[in-house]
Amino acid sequence: MSTAGLDLLLITGVRAVDPARNLDGNVDCVVERGVITRLGKDAISAELRASERAVHFDGRGKLLLPAFVDLHAHVREPGEEYKEDIRSGLRAAAHGGFAHICAMPNTKPVNDKRSITEAIVARAREVGGPTLHPIGAITVGQLGKELTEVADLRDAGAVGISDDGRCVMNAAVMRRALQYAETFDIPVIQHCEDHDLTEGAEMHEGRVSTELGLRGWPAVAEDIIVARDVLLAESTRAKYHVAHVSTRGAVRIIREAKARGIRVTAEVTPHHLLLTHDAVVGYRTACKVNPPLREEADVLALQAALADGTIDAIATDHAPHSVLEKDCEFAEARPGMVGLEFAISLMFQLVSQGKLPLARLVDALSTSPSKIIAIEPPTLKEGKVAELVLFDPARPYLVGNLVSKSENTPFLGQTLQGRVLLTLARGELVHRLD
Ligand code: DOR
Repeated sequence: MSTAGLDLLLITGVRAVDPARNLDGNVDCVVERGVITRLGKDAISAELRASERAVHFDGRGKLLLPAFVDLHAHVREPGEEYKEDIRSGLRAAAHGGFAHICAMPNTKPVNDKRSITEAIVARAREVGGPTLHPIGAITVGQLGKELTEVADLRDAGAVGISDDGRCVMNAAVMRRALQYAETFDIPVIQHCEDHDLTEGAEMHEGRVSTELGLRGWPAVAEDIIVARDVLLAESTRAKYHVAHVSTRGAVRIIREAKARGIRVTAEVTPHHLLLTHDAVVGYRTACKVNPPLREEADVLALQAALADGTIDAIATDHAPHSVLEKDCEFAEARPGMVGLEFAISLMFQLVSQGKLPLARLVDALSTSPSKIIAIEPPTLKEGKVAELVLFDPARPYLVGNLVSKSENTPFLGQTLQGRVLLTLARGELVHRLD
């Protein structure tokens, strides 16, 4: 990715929002050789303004934000590069304003060994752009039985462990994983699904599954695992993170656990915040996802939990699949949606509708997820290496022509409001909308 134009970057008259610094105000911003050197009112001297090496951006009406951090993406390398690879996944991330993404381990082979984690890290460094943080598997082959060598995975760069796509069903295995991870203070990220309750399930169990004659995935299958794991997290004092929360029951359990001081954190996806099971009507395979789209009451509970901080982070669960794997019978279709490129555009709707304060949105996309994986959060501060986003809330965005290799999203063809104009990661310009 290009670093051109970053010798000197000047953004004038922009609204900068960084809740980590209690910042919300109109400023000028100067980035010199990848470092934020000035941020404040009238920060751009006449001399800088006249500099021939300067690239100017008019920030009026736009937002300057710390760059985003995605806790949950599937980049499919190694093994399924026809859906996505590290290069295309990182490009998609850059387009969506992400300076950091976590790569889930359900690759082929599964990322359950030091050598695989190392290979992923090396490839991502070679590609450049946003930083890729691998998540290692909890169990060998994600088979739910034998724990991986967590110390090895961590030493190779894994920032957490997860069997995402599968739930760790055995409570003894989960307990040992939490005990083990606690010694390294990395989060155990659970895909909460009691597989005995969801066998053969194709969508959320409810009115729509009955109407469509599709086998249902009951909400309680998520709640039951969250409840069990919260008890295990309490007794082990480990860091426990709930991936893609989708039910109002799980929200209630997480809220109570947090109130009791248990180290539980949670993420929610844009699609679970915006869509219900009604979107599946017509057997729309683009809306097949795991966990499935739920009911209105769940969506409202998720939105409220995100607003009040019960749910810490927004994560995309970017899950690319090929046309062949989606353009088929509902039962055969693979679950998942892409989402890196337009997550902020979708989520900004909640701000425009008054459902989410802008500062909370920025926190949920940047500061909070950074803390969960213990990386230094991107921040708008003089002296810091620039990791920032310039977002234009007024710019329409017709979802299409994605840089991801896959286009499996129900939002394809929709016009959203708001688009990322610039992304800087590690001080480099990794995305610029022409
Ligand atoms: O919808 C999903 N797709 N949910 C998961 O948990 C896994 C993911 C994938 O890897 O495609």
